[in-house]
Amino acid sequence: MMDLSPSVLGADLLHLGDEVKKVEQLGIRWLHLDHMDGHFVPNISFGPDFVAAIRRQTSLFLDVHLMLSHPLDYVKAYAQAGSDLITVHVEAEDDPEQTLRAIRAQGKQAGICIKPKTPPQAIEALLPLCDLVLVMTVEPGFGGQGMMQDCVEKLPVLREMIDRCGRPIRLEVDGGVKQENAGRVLAAGADVLVMGTGLFRAKDPAQVVAAVMEEARACGR
Ligand code: DX5
Ligand code: ZN
Repeated sequence: MMDLSPSVLGADLLHLGDEVKKVEQLGIRWLHLDHMDGHFVPNISFGPDFVAAIRRQTSLFLDVHLMLSHPLDYVKAYAQAGSDLITVHVEAEDDPEQTLRAIRAQGKQAGICIKPKTPPQAIEALLPLCDLVLVMTVEPGFGGQGMMQDCVEKLPVLREMIDRCGRPIRLEVDGGVKQENAGRVLAAGADVLVMGTGLFRAKDPAQVVAAVMEEARACGR
């Protein structure tokens, strides 16, 4: 079943508790938390204490996206903060295999992420260690950007790779997902959609959720 993973980066941070409740009331199961170090990406967001604060308030599945040059140094802190899934970039400076193993050793689900210019083949050998593959459809660092359409073409390739691997790996898309393009992304193979501004800044978020769920049903996800 398809999942929406609302990115807190698009939420009203001054009223975060209410924003999390809103997500729960919409019947959504996941929450996407973006962590940026000002080095791997040209922006800074929040750290493990932020995850811990959200964990205390909700039982949503916490989908943590680490945009860090050295994610290995922080795996333990993010795991102890209550993350359910920790995703790291294959382009980070730390060895991705070692980092994925460290995440699993903490008893957490592990994800691998590729930036727009990274080909799907870069992660094929890592799939046996992964529970999720995250495809960036914008250059990471900021919410509210437009989706890079050529990145969507990687999805069928990755879906096929995942099927070949034989593990139940989720395929998530992050960056510029809106009600208008969700159908195309789902049809291309995604089964988890990150939505920041597309959901939190929508006039009628319930209508957005209903429309995206309908698109998912239409293509069997
Ligand atoms: C960007 C982040 C995204 C971002 C998505 O680097 O990884 O998760 O918050 O926001 P929207 O959906 O607004 O593009
Ligand atoms: Zn993200």
